[in-house]
Amino acid sequence: MNYQWYPGHMMKAKRMMQENIKLIDLIIELVDARAPMSSRNPDIDELGQGKSRLILLNKADLADEKENQAWMAWFQEKGCFAACLDARKRSDMKQINGIIQSACREKMERDRKRGIVNRPVRAMVAGIPNVGKSTFINSFAGRTCAKTGNKPGVTKGKQWIRLNPQVELLDTPGILWPKFEDPQVGVKLAALGSIRDELLLGEELACWLLEYLKAHYPEAAGKRYQTECKGKGEEALTQIAEIRGCVLKGGEPDLRRAASMILEDFRSGRLGRITLESPETRESGEQNG
Ligand code: G4P
Repeated sequence: MNYQWYPGHMMKAKRMMQENIKLIDLIIELVDARAPMSSRNPDIDELGQGKSRLILLNKADLADEKENQAWMAWFQEKGCFAACLDARKRSDMKQINGIIQSACREKMERDRKRGIVNRPVRAMVAGIPNVGKSTFINSFAGRTCAKTGNKPGVTKGKQWIRLNPQVELLDTPGILWPKFEDPQVGVKLAALGSIRDELLLGEELACWLLEYLKAHYPEAAGKRYQTECKGKGEEALTQIAEIRGCVLKGGEPDLRRAASMILEDFRSGRLGRITLESPETRESGEQNG
């Protein structure tokens, strides 16, 4: 969180990824299930050429179940292994381990044909900051071994976690830099709380979210705030501020406080399971939200 992506950081993260990718056979890429495209960096496709790919749609517990399934199918169609995940749940890890085995099978088979036996497949977890990489490594390895914090790239002294006789995981995740070319990406990542967008005020972000909800989840805000939220953006925000008693000393609605509350409700799942982009709009190039 609160990580500033200056070109220097980006270059460093990219360099570290390039170095680390050389060491591995499988990339386990975590994306945020609530915005699987905006929360990934497509450069990984080029960086990871020739490697097996597993996409984990993390924080799936907060995302729309129907969209989770649609995104999983979309990634599978692109030739990746894919699965939904709540990285905090250790009970999910057995299933993920099975998928990792499947994703590695081809590589192991290739090695075997070339006479290489007993060489474990090496994997790395990668993803943009705050997507859940450390949580996943901790849950997966079953102990607190992954470093938390958002430093670009991975540390120098590499350590491998042996998951089983066939698979080893690099203990520090690869940090991918978010790609902000499309302004909608920044808005979505800010709404998810993955980045702090200094340029966008909380009120603007909350208004954007309310508009998005109105178009895609028309009942979500009404259900939570017991109001019809008939108005557009700021009007709806004002209504919610009034209903929730967010008022300033002079009696004016406190839009900033209402906006923080709405964003927090969204991020914690109190507005329901919501996804901010779907594969269909992706394919047609249509902007949603
Ligand atoms: P990172 O290494 O990729 O930067 O991410 P990290 O594991 O630190 O996870 C970021 C936050 O996301 C953590 O919350 C973590 O608990 C939460 N998280 C990770 N995976 C999941 C998931 O599958 N579902 C849900 N609901 N949350 C998940 P945190 O430490 O409490 O940070 P914050 O909530 O204070 O921002």
